[in-house]
Amino acid sequence: MAHDRFLRALSREPVDATPVWLMRQAGRYLPEYRALREKAGSFLSLCQNPELACEVTLQPLRRFNLDAAILFSDILTIPEAMGLGLHFVAGEGPKFEHPVRTPEAIAKLAVPDIEDELGYVPAAIKLIRRELDGKTPLIGFAGSPWTLATYIVEGGPSKNYEHLKALMFNEPAAMHQLLDVLARSTAAYLNAQIAAGAQAVQIFDTWGGVLSPANYREFSLNYMQRIIADLKPGPDGHVPTIVFTKGGGAWLETIADAGPTAIGLDWTINIDEAVARVGDRVALQGNADPAILYAKPERIRTEVADILTRFGDTPGHIFNLGHGVTPQVPPEHVEALVEAVHEFSAR
Ligand code: CP3
Repeated sequence: MAHDRFLRALSREPVDATPVWLMRQAGRYLPEYRALREKAGSFLSLCQNPELACEVTLQPLRRFNLDAAILFSDILTIPEAMGLGLHFVAGEGPKFEHPVRTPEAIAKLAVPDIEDELGYVPAAIKLIRRELDGKTPLIGFAGSPWTLATYIVEGGPSKNYEHLKALMFNEPAAMHQLLDVLARSTAAYLNAQIAAGAQAVQIFDTWGGVLSPANYREFSLNYMQRIIADLKPGPDGHVPTIVFTKGGGAWLETIADAGPTAIGLDWTINIDEAVARVGDRVALQGNADPAILYAKPERIRTEVADILTRFGDTPGHIFNLGHGVTPQVPPEHVEALVEAVHEFSAR
């Protein structure tokens, strides 16, 4: 039963131990990742080569006893496929050559042809499923339309979202047109991942938390709800969905109304409070502060014990961080966390 802990917990069925996976479990904190990226030349060339994307996906699973694999890719593959000129600048993150800031520019955007422009993603998923051979389930993912819009409109990461929020307040119809084309693209993209074998999908709404409650519902959650409603069953049947809105702890009931199987929590809410509010409607994923991985293994273990105790004995918990693993983390600390989750939750 060890290999299906993750999918069972998503269905809120009893498990032999709490499943654990980590956002950004593959990446720069692993020396074998840095070596492969060096060889490939760039991050995007890793993502776009199915053999290399498969290899990077499997790297953390060879080191740690993780209960799920996550496709190695990025949320920005969709705007890249739309021709917006994505590149990564060392130390600055993603940049778009052609930011989209006007109703005229928005009107020109179209849903990319998934097979032609993004076929490397389902190809990687098929390879990964073959390599995993039923031993570990595979998660597919995409960004929320709102989170993609933050990068597309600003042209890169942003502090104040001045272009994006001016567009939202001044030209709401154009903003909705942008979110609509992104939602249709994302639904098609996730359906291609599901058809290729993704066994669960997570929508990363990293920047939903920068909105007011009303604007969150109108400009972010609405579109995630439409995507969830548009997903089709895969080769193995219904595919569970996880919505992760960073900073969304105040809105759990409304997020649950959008129909995800699980809600991903950041670390600004106590997980026992989340259980009390929505634990009878959705599974919960989270929610250690990612900075716990800078602490000593003994301190990591007490943090894990605290979160498991807070969640309690009811089924439906998937252990994770409240955001991604950062590049400075020692791999041994990830191992300590994963081992502690299984040790303290063994039934
Ligand atoms: O979780 C996993 O292991 C799967 C891989 C994954 C990546 N990005 C790999 C990546 C996933 C799920 C993502 C999602 C993603 N990408 C999000 C949402 C989640 C989050 O972290 O908030 C966002 C906002 C992006 C956009 C993005 N991609 C940014 C802002 C950056 C730069 C970040 C940085 O630390 O430099 C990326 C690049 C990126 N995506 C890297 C990785 C491993 C680093 C690439 C490298 O330098 O090698």
